[in-house]
Amino acid sequence: MSLEGKSILVTGAGVRLGRQTAITLAAAGAIVLLHYNSSASGAEETAGEIRSQGGKAILIQADLSDPHQAGLLMDQARKHGPVFGIVHNAAIFEPLRLPDVTPENWQRHMDVNLASPFFISQAFFNGLGPEDHGRIITMLDWRALRPGVDHLPYTISKAGLAALTKTLAQSMAPRVTVNGIALGAILPPSDGPSSDKIIQLVPMKRWADLDELGKTILFLMDGPEYITGEIIHLDGGRHLV
Ligand SMILES: NC(=O)c1ccc[n+]([C@@H]2O[C@H](COP(=O)([O-])OP(=O)(O)OC[C@H]3O[C@@H](n4cnc5c(N)ncnc54)[C@H](OP(=O)(O)O)[C@@H]3O)[C@@H](O)[C@H]2O)c1
Repeated sequence: MSLEGKSILVTGAGVRLGRQTAITLAAAGAIVLLHYNSSASGAEETAGEIRSQGGKAILIQADLSDPHQAGLLMDQARKHGPVFGIVHNAAIFEPLRLPDVTPENWQRHMDVNLASPFFISQAFFNGLGPEDHGRIITMLDWRALRPGVDHLPYTISKAGLAALTKTLAQSMAPRVTVNGIALGAILPPSDGPSSDKIIQLVPMKRWADLDELGKTILFLMDGPEYITGEIIHLDGGRHLV
């Protein structure tokens, strides 16, 4: 497999979708640089699962609410060898509407969801050797491309990340591809509306299978290099409704 022995940084890989992404990439032969912030035990469990299946995982802790730490994360990652790819998965998702938004919660979303992916990507690109190629995937949301009224700072930060995906694809070509996955109903949020209410609005009438996320990640990490600046919806058609 062409990911064999390649190092890929997955941010927020201790829980949920990040964890699934890390396990999928490791099963395809990648060395996973498994980033976490507060979920130390989740990260250790994920690394343990990867290692028990014969894969390789290296834990890296960083608080991505500080863009300076985000820039330094790539230095930490490169201590373990050249980095081939990044999955920008870490994010915060707070249920804030117009009256609830403050400068603090606005800035928190922009720092974790938008500034950190930018500075990690910049450090990645600046440190590539002359012959190096690589891949970046951003985890977006269908709402990034069709903004609504709920989760306002989250949605705007993801809309910025969608724009960043396209500008980085141009800035980093021809050596690095940059693509996004606009996710829909993949895993229910722990504090969100009931599952049934969400699924009624999904044309495919179900939650995603986590394996479908894994297949999409592998396609963008290991599929045609001629695809860049693309945003693939993995949302059961939710953005069409
Ligand atoms: N779940 C869905 O159905 C869905 C739908 C649309 C889009 N998405 C997107 O898919 C991605 C993963 O979703 P999820 O549901 O798995 O997210 P989640 O359960 O909320 O997990 C968020 C991750 O972000 C990390 N994180 C949060 N604040 C951080 C900080 N200050 N510094 C570093 N890391 C931080 C967390 O790390 P620690 O726990 O280690 O602190 C955690 O691993 C996100 O980008 C989300 O926007 C998910």
